[in-house]
Amino acid sequence: MCGIVGYVGNRNATPIIIEGIKRLEYRGYDSAGIAIINKEHELKIFKEAGKIIDLERSLPAPNETSGNIGIAHTRWATHGEPTTTNAHPHTNCCNTIALIHNGIIENYKILRKKLEAEDHIFVSETDTEVLTHLIGHFYREENNLLLAVQEALKLVEGAYGIAIICSDFPDQIIAARKGSPLILGIGKNEFFVASDVSAIIIHTKRVIYLQDNEIVTVNKNNFEITTINNKIVTAKVSEIDWDVSSIEKGEYKHFMLKEIFEQPKSVGNAFRGRLIPELSTTRLGGLGLTEEELRQVERLHIIACGTSWHAALIGKNIIEGLARIPVEVEYASEYRYRNPIIPDNTVVFVISQSGETADTLAALREAKSKGARVFGITNVVGSTIARESDGGVYIHAGTEIGVASTKALTSQVTVLSLLAVLLGRMRNLSSTYGTTFIEELIKIPEKIQRILDNNEEIKKIAGTIKDSTNALYLGRGVNYPIALEGALKLKEISYIHAEGYPAAEMKHGPIALIDKNMPVIVIALKDVIYDKIVSNLEEVKARKGRIITIATEGDETIKDISENVIYIPQTINVLQPLLSVIPLQLLAYHVADLRNLDVDQPRNLAKSVTVE
Ligand code: AGP
Ligand code: GLU
Repeated sequence: MCGIVGYVGNRNATPIIIEGIKRLEYRGYDSAGIAIINKEHELKIFKEAGKIIDLERSLPAPNETSGNIGIAHTRWATHGEPTTTNAHPHTNCCNTIALIHNGIIENYKILRKKLEAEDHIFVSETDTEVLTHLIGHFYREENNLLLAVQEALKLVEGAYGIAIICSDFPDQIIAARKGSPLILGIGKNEFFVASDVSAIIIHTKRVIYLQDNEIVTVNKNNFEITTINNKIVTAKVSEIDWDVSSIEKGEYKHFMLKEIFEQPKSVGNAFRGRLIPELSTTRLGGLGLTEEELRQVERLHIIACGTSWHAALIGKNIIEGLARIPVEVEYASEYRYRNPIIPDNTVVFVISQSGETADTLAALREAKSKGARVFGITNVVGSTIARESDGGVYIHAGTEIGVASTKALTSQVTVLSLLAVLLGRMRNLSSTYGTTFIEELIKIPEKIQRILDNNEEIKKIAGTIKDSTNALYLGRGVNYPIALEGALKLKEISYIHAEGYPAAEMKHGPIALIDKNMPVIVIALKDVIYDKIVSNLEEVKARKGRIITIATEGDETIKDISENVIYIPQTINVLQPLLSVIPLQLLAYHVADLRNLDVDQPRNLAKSVTVE
């Protein structure tokens, strides 16, 4: 997490880099800072704990902060509390070099000890400051800033996306990456560096995605990319195909609400061009696998974190049900360290909205190191996971700014259902089912819209649980991961402790928690196990639990045992999660909003966890 922006050109850098980190604030927001080099070639640094608005308020008059080159950082602390001293940029001993960093310097303690022994004075508790002094150390020796950066980065273990300015070179930015995203934006006689496109898209749509171990040296007229071993790199310029309106809130109060309401469109975008009705199947060209190769697949591993892991669990249900291929779902943070066994004819999928999650990227690399073919299901074009996968599928959900993931989940599940039918139709899945699947999938966007039309009713229900301290979410089969997702949504934006559980499993412990103060949100849709889940509801009601049921339109009986019912349209079992998650997203959103919390930037979180 954290956001990095740099500018060099003919314009005043400060407003550009402040606006840039505001657009990256969803990536980390506990403190912020800027460094600029003014016309007198003085390095000026301003930083503040708190939000970017706090930094802005602390800035002196504009004439004090003007300059044509600058870097800015919005932080998500990993080492050292979110204080002004620990905020970035950090400087070397003689305050000639300023550096901002996204990532973790894992060997910072050893490096710090060595540098302190050489009389380097540290002022912060961060790992980042070590890098600044290390570069200062080599710069003093080599008197060549690029060489100093290359030498310093060779000693670093861990992940970094960095940008550096130096008052001895008042017209140049040096930026580098390993494990944390960094792009170069190409303007007219001006250049930008940033963690992602949203920071600079209002200035340019021409970008270069830096790769690991690459360093770019840029001034307002040109740039050069080298490796840390000083080999020149020729990079490809990409053209961004979306515009700034897609990262504006518009008439919505929060990005999260906008993204929930975008789902009729985003789910449609996830399957557009990927259905083959005449063959009752689907296509996923981005996998780059032949029919023969797809037929040889005997097992899938799906690796992810958080909401993407919930999508993976749903994918397991659907793929095993339709394609009869065993699917193992793993947390990326576990998979990467447990020396996974990956038999022949196993295909590994990693799911990541941001395409930058450190644990998921590491799991991808671990699987590839064992010879597996790894495919990415991602949302951000050109993201590290997308680029390092052997192929993959973009979910086309559009930029997701709200820290709590919503539209990404439904698009990820849509893609996984397309994969299930593709694999299934090559095996035992009938054309009749394939046709039914396609006919039902095409109706999902308007069915999602029907649920969204009940937003005000769901908001009222949210009002009945907004002061709870705990909540229990129950679901079965393909809706059990949705119970997990509903609980995650509630806890990460309303800070109410919530737990998702398989409905029948609730008897083996969590039922002890149920009393008249406990909201129990149950997904009880009309399907083969409906009667079983109604029994679970009776058990909850017998203990005075406050039942909110997600039920199928037309099911009147469920009202008798529910305090509140939220109806959703009927659909085939494997597509139910695309509908059952919508009320849970809105419920969590309204509870958090009614509690006057920062829905888009919940405390302690960040949108993309690019550190371990
Ligand atoms: C979801 O609401 C959370 N923000 C978080 O769990 C997120 O899903 C997780 O960090 C994975 O992110 P990714 O999909 O970008 O890899
Ligand atoms: N590890 C650095 C720090 O704690 C950078 C954190 C980030 O990526 O924001 O300051």
